[in-house]
Amino acid sequence: MRDKLSTEPYKGVRDFYPEEQAFLNYFMRVARQVLESAGYVEYGASILEPAELYKAKGAENEEIVSEQTYTFTDRGEREVTLRPEMTPTVARMVAAKRRSLGFPLRFFSIPNVFRYERPQKGRLREHWQLNVDLFGSRSVSADAEIIRIAHDLLISFGAKDGEFEIQVNDRRIMEDLLNKIVGIESSETRQVIRLLDRFEKAKAETTAKIAELIGDQKLARLIEALSGETTMNRLHAVSEPFEAFQNMRTELAAAEIKTRYNHALTRGFDYYTGMVFEVFDTSGENTRSLFGGGRYDNLTQLFDDEPLPGVGFGMGDVTLYDFLKTHELLPAYRPPTDLYIAITSPEYALAAQTFAGELRGAGVNTAIDFGEKKNVGDQIKTAAKHQIPYVIVLGPDELASGQVKLRDLASGQERALARGEVAAAIRGA
Ligand code: HAM
Repeated sequence: MRDKLSTEPYKGVRDFYPEEQAFLNYFMRVARQVLESAGYVEYGASILEPAELYKAKGAENEEIVSEQTYTFTDRGEREVTLRPEMTPTVARMVAAKRRSLGFPLRFFSIPNVFRYERPQKGRLREHWQLNVDLFGSRSVSADAEIIRIAHDLLISFGAKDGEFEIQVNDRRIMEDLLNKIVGIESSETRQVIRLLDRFEKAKAETTAKIAELIGDQKLARLIEALSGETTMNRLHAVSEPFEAFQNMRTELAAAEIKTRYNHALTRGFDYYTGMVFEVFDTSGENTRSLFGGGRYDNLTQLFDDEPLPGVGFGMGDVTLYDFLKTHELLPAYRPPTDLYIAITSPEYALAAQTFAGELRGAGVNTAIDFGEKKNVGDQIKTAAKHQIPYVIVLGPDELASGQVKLRDLASGQERALARGEVAAAIRGA
């Protein structure tokens, strides 16, 4: 006998049965509400991109490009990549139409993205990622707006201030800290920043690697600077962007949005050029960052010479789900179907369909049973499995009298109603 196929999905990706799909829809619905209310408009693009988009200098993130992309050669010998993130795509789209688009430009999208990662808590090979990006402004108010939206999103999902922490840094300030305070050569800065991205996750290993690169003495200075109390004062003196960065934080503080300045925060991508931020769960349950982003002023220069500043973030559905679960903020599942019509014999299927049609027309989402299970009790169990709240059993008596019993499956209570009263009874419930 032939071996049967596995019913498991491909490693690291998920099937979305209705309850999981309902969460994804909820994520998208709330995101759309929050973004549209702030003047952002939705765009989309194909999952497929030419592989060179991620290999080009400036876009490159070594780990993502060399180890984490799904890349294949198509029948026309073109190298194609399943998008691992949306930022290069949106930069390409904006660069293509920069003459006709108005700036500042506020864009959002909720694409699925693919990364060949070792599946683990908070990390899968496919996830949905809300991308929020603002193009055409260098103002610190634009940076503040992006962080404010990140904050407002979490509040709209039911989170309270204090349940999460927004950590901020700035790449330029970080470079000044490395070069002017620690004394690291500019040629080594990028590598140190990349290593620092793993600092919190793997301290011992990262520290050893940094020591190899810059020596023990500078490492000691680096560690002191990253945690040091005096660093703020010194940065004030040596880092030109520091004041604007602090102004951004003040602007947020005025809106009662707290940020914590983390000198070691870098974020993985090389394309960030200014403010970077990450949001963390403070419960201790989810140690990985919830989501994050930052300013990237040179990405459209992959496509032409004109610079176009951008700032934004990406928020994944997986980490958001874990956060909401930890804080008991997940919405209860409710199926879209309001009513199930059971029938005492298959011959009433047509009558059930007609009745269902009347109800649908009156705004009640209705499904019918075909009566193949003779026992009405079994049909009602089917409705319960689907978590449909109401059931009506249709048989010769109901059809003759025009009177039905509307059963509420949760309470078990029944109400006798005329056919024409059912829709109002359900809608009014
Ligand atoms: P990222 O930090 O790589 O940034 O991803 C953003 C968020 O997507 C993460 O914080 C996490 O919520 C989610 N995420 C990333 N990888 C995975 C994974 N393997 N499984 C589940 N969730 C994941 C970016 O992608 C930037 N392009 C964001 C951005 C937009 N920056 C500016 N604009």
